[in-house]
Amino acid sequence: MVLNHLSHYQPHRLASRASLCFLLALFFSLASASSSLNPGLGAIKLRHSRLLRSAVQRETSPLQLSNLWSPLENRGWKACDKHSDVPSLPEKSEGYIQVFLDGGLNQQRMGICDAVAVAKILNATLVIPYLEVNPVWRDSSSFVDIFDVDHFIDVLKDDISIVRELPEEFSWSTREYYAAAIRETRIKSAPVHATAQWYLDSVLPVLQSYGIAAISPFSHRLTYDNLPMDIQRLRCKVNFQALVFVPHIRALGDALISRLRYPQDSAGEMGTNYLQESTETSDRKGARKFVVLHLRFDKDMAAHSACDFGGGKLEKLALAKYRQRIWQGRVLNSQFTDEELRSQGRCPMTPEEIGLLLAALGFDNNTRLYLASHKVFGGGARIATLRDLFPLMESKKSLATADERALITGKASLLAAVDYYVGMHSDIFISASPGNMHNAMVGHRTYLNMKTVRPNMALMGQLFLNKSIEWSEFQQAVVEGHRNRQGELRLRRPKQSIYTYPAPDCMCQA
Ligand SMILES: *[C@@H]1O[C@H](CO)[C@@H](O)[C@H](O)[C@H]1NC(C)=O
Ligand SMILES: *[C@@H]1O[C@H](CO)[C@@H](O)[C@H](O)[C@H]1NC(C)=O
Ligand SMILES: *[C@@H]1O[C@H](CO)[C@@H](O)[C@H](O)[C@H]1NC(C)=O
Repeated sequence: MVLNHLSHYQPHRLASRASLCFLLALFFSLASASSSLNPGLGAIKLRHSRLLRSAVQRETSPLQLSNLWSPLENRGWKACDKHSDVPSLPEKSEGYIQVFLDGGLNQQRMGICDAVAVAKILNATLVIPYLEVNPVWRDSSSFVDIFDVDHFIDVLKDDISIVRELPEEFSWSTREYYAAAIRETRIKSAPVHATAQWYLDSVLPVLQSYGIAAISPFSHRLTYDNLPMDIQRLRCKVNFQALVFVPHIRALGDALISRLRYPQDSAGEMGTNYLQESTETSDRKGARKFVVLHLRFDKDMAAHSACDFGGGKLEKLALAKYRQRIWQGRVLNSQFTDEELRSQGRCPMTPEEIGLLLAALGFDNNTRLYLASHKVFGGGARIATLRDLFPLMESKKSLATADERALITGKASLLAAVDYYVGMHSDIFISASPGNMHNAMVGHRTYLNMKTVRPNMALMGQLFLNKSIEWSEFQQAVVEGHRNRQGELRLRRPKQSIYTYPAPDCMCQA
């Protein structure tokens, strides 16, 4: 990845211990008192107003548009056919594997795939993974609230044994039990990217002695390299086949997709519940194309990047305060100037900047843009800039009724699941910062040969630093810099994630 530090940014890892010294506390309480007088964090200054003025008046040729929206060519790779292996369930289970997964939805997703692989390596029975509550996302939804557990167990039934809950005799093995003291059944020291042999040497004996092993932490604890092909294929099978969202998430996602594709049909009928809507859309004419923009511009991301986003002094103070509260100020990026960070491509793009990127790529003002995001830092003012460029912008909120959203409101993982689902059905997907969601989408869409724009962050940072660049030059540089970044298949290299680069492990040459 271009941006290792962003992909590896894991808010959950950082304790939220508040250890402000008195002076800082005083300083920041003054700052927040003044910002509360001005909830909009002061006027958000447009950083690139000259480019924006030109972008609003942009014109895109029909040829450019048709190239932009055309699907990817067949690259000779596709998902491997189901291998007709005889069922390979071990005759006897070595015991139960329990994992506790932190991170947001997409990090947990990879953890689930790895857990299945580890259970297979050990001939163990997997307990449905426990999803920790993340301090940033604060969603207590469990596996069964998010993923279709019956489907999960059924798809994997010939590969491993899975139980929803531990049997009575092991019911003591809980998160609370492990939080209270050091326990012999807990594996606490799994190395990052541990090998299969490590699991056989270090976890199998625990299983054999106690009948159970609880692994925590578990994120990123299984290597991507030198594993038997059947284990790699199994990871792909979990990620791309076994993990599907619960029916109500899929139904809501389908309703949103239908409203994006057939806006004329849904005008005026927003009061209807998706459950009553006709789903026979396959033979309908005139489907519109749409692009999903994942805007990971939440406060934690903005603060952690330590970049300047043009919100002036109050914004800087608010972000510094957040860094202090969540990471006690220990944020590597804060040693660098904004200019240094930008020229290295280390700043997540603001709505304004990703809007300029999309406009430069040729998306015109008729583009249907679905905004996948959580809480955009700087809120409405920042979104307004994007809407100036893309008036037909939609989101979960604009497309669904309050009733429809009731089951997911306030639940970050379920909201992210809806965005993932819609993202998987879009003609084009693009993310404004290369984190876990971006990587998960790049991988899943590569697997299905779908177009995905990977922003060239360093190039964009450098272009945005140039205050005298003209629109035509900007546009040309953007187009050239993204020519080979639209979903072309790239084979996984050693150490790279199988979930971001599914070829060649999960894909076969047609
Ligand atoms: C798992 O089971 C297979 C056969 O079912 C056996 O060949 C393999 O050695 C077992 N591995 C472990 C770690 O028990
Ligand atoms: C797009 O721009 C053109 C020309 O500037 C304008 O006429 C049209 O109304 C705009 N479309 C939308 C959906 O705003
Ligand atoms: C900014 O862009 C202009 C026009 O393309 C170019 O001439 C100039 O060298 C650039 N400046 C920097 C610092 O890159």
